[in-house]
Amino acid sequence: MTDKLIKANEYENLHGQEILENDRPLFHVTGTVGWINDPNGFSVYNGEYHLFYQYHPYSTHWGPMHWGHVKSKDLVKWERLPVAMAPDTSYDDFGCFSGSAIELADGSHMLMYTGVTLAKDGGVEKFLQQQCVAIGDGASYEKYENNPVISSDMLPDGADKYDFRDPKIFKRNGKYYVVTGNRAADGAGQILLFESENGFEWNFKTVLDKSNNLFGKMWECPDFFELDDKDVLMFSPQEMRAVELEYNNGNNTAFIVGNLNADYKMQRDYTQKIDYGIDFYAPQSLKAPDGRRIMIAWMQNWDTTNAQNDGIKYFGEMTFPRELFFDGDRICQLPVKEIENYYGREVSYDSVNISGRQKLDGILGRTINLELSIDMAKSDFNLFIIKLAEDDTNHSSIVCSSNGVITIDRTYSGFTKDVLHSRSFKYDMGAKLNLRILMDRHSIELFVNGGRQAATIKIDTVLSADGISFETDGNAVVDVKKHEINVR
Ligand code: FRU
Repeated sequence: MTDKLIKANEYENLHGQEILENDRPLFHVTGTVGWINDPNGFSVYNGEYHLFYQYHPYSTHWGPMHWGHVKSKDLVKWERLPVAMAPDTSYDDFGCFSGSAIELADGSHMLMYTGVTLAKDGGVEKFLQQQCVAIGDGASYEKYENNPVISSDMLPDGADKYDFRDPKIFKRNGKYYVVTGNRAADGAGQILLFESENGFEWNFKTVLDKSNNLFGKMWECPDFFELDDKDVLMFSPQEMRAVELEYNNGNNTAFIVGNLNADYKMQRDYTQKIDYGIDFYAPQSLKAPDGRRIMIAWMQNWDTTNAQNDGIKYFGEMTFPRELFFDGDRICQLPVKEIENYYGREVSYDSVNISGRQKLDGILGRTINLELSIDMAKSDFNLFIIKLAEDDTNHSSIVCSSNGVITIDRTYSGFTKDVLHSRSFKYDMGAKLNLRILMDRHSIELFVNGGRQAATIKIDTVLSADGISFETDGNAVVDVKKHEINVR
């Protein structure tokens, strides 16, 4: 172990315990101390789920990136493991940026990441980004002696070597492949595909897809996987411009759905926004042993990191893992079913009539799964509002309008910074409007109509604000079901 890795582990052993369990979410991953961003190395290894994360243990702000590490048997309860990597070599001393993990043929666990180091380019200092690997056993990892395995001189013409990051490794037809984000000569994002027989020796294969300045600038954190008979490119484009209610300004996340053609290029069918909330970025996926495609993301967005209140004890948390599946021509997402093993007491109501503002006995809490089914045929309203994490001064609201738009709003959720606090998106109007809300202390994950749309926000509301109320300007007929979530 290098001095930097020893120091990081000692630091988290010393300061991790200063954060009380009650200050953390109950079933969402947080860093041991300090700051976290993107999920990395989300993989199955030796029958367990492993998750690494972009990590700066020493402060609640971004800094030289380490990889933190947790593992789980069921994606709900996570066990903390030692810091896996520190920025401790000549090729990654500025940071071990985002990447992925895979089990190699010999049974070892390979981490693939972007090593970042300062370089001089015509007298100007720039951050060189190259792809590196580390090999381990699920607990500790050694960087490979011949890193980087994909160096900047392997880039195709016009590809920028200072924006070349976030390798996602996968196996297909017996070979290893990796997709990386890159900036093309036109200044916008592209996804590069590399190929390897063994995971160590790589060749550039093709430009899988690119923005052409039509879909934001740099494309970060790509992932590429099969879902049913489709190929899906998942990525995080930067500097986008809002497009009606579909895309927002700045950082977005999107799926490109299509098929890889014989030239290893993406043949697009359509694109889809992944999450319509405020706090969702850099998603990564794995294939579970039972075949499910499971996605996890950073429950944050670079433009909202400034929303944090002063005095926080740690920064950053992951979304709850979500299963991806098709419903017709749309990729849907729902919390993985394992959460149901932790359901406690159920309180439910069938066909309650709501008019004005109403609370329902037993419908409250901050660690809950709440399901609502609004019978649109029997209801008559312009607006139906659900207020969560509510007390006299606080609430986070989900405003459903009968014209097909939902607004999620955290203006009154405890933040003291004047940043964006609400976002609206369209839902498919039908006989029922089904909402599922997963709340874990300081986050709300909303899934609409069986996961056809999702919207995620962080809140900063005192934990004592645990009320839930319903309000409408007409009347609504609603089934309501709540489960407490208990994780010990
Ligand atoms: C995405 C990202 C990645 C990079 C990492 C650095 O959030 O910018 O592109 O590898 O964060 O922490």
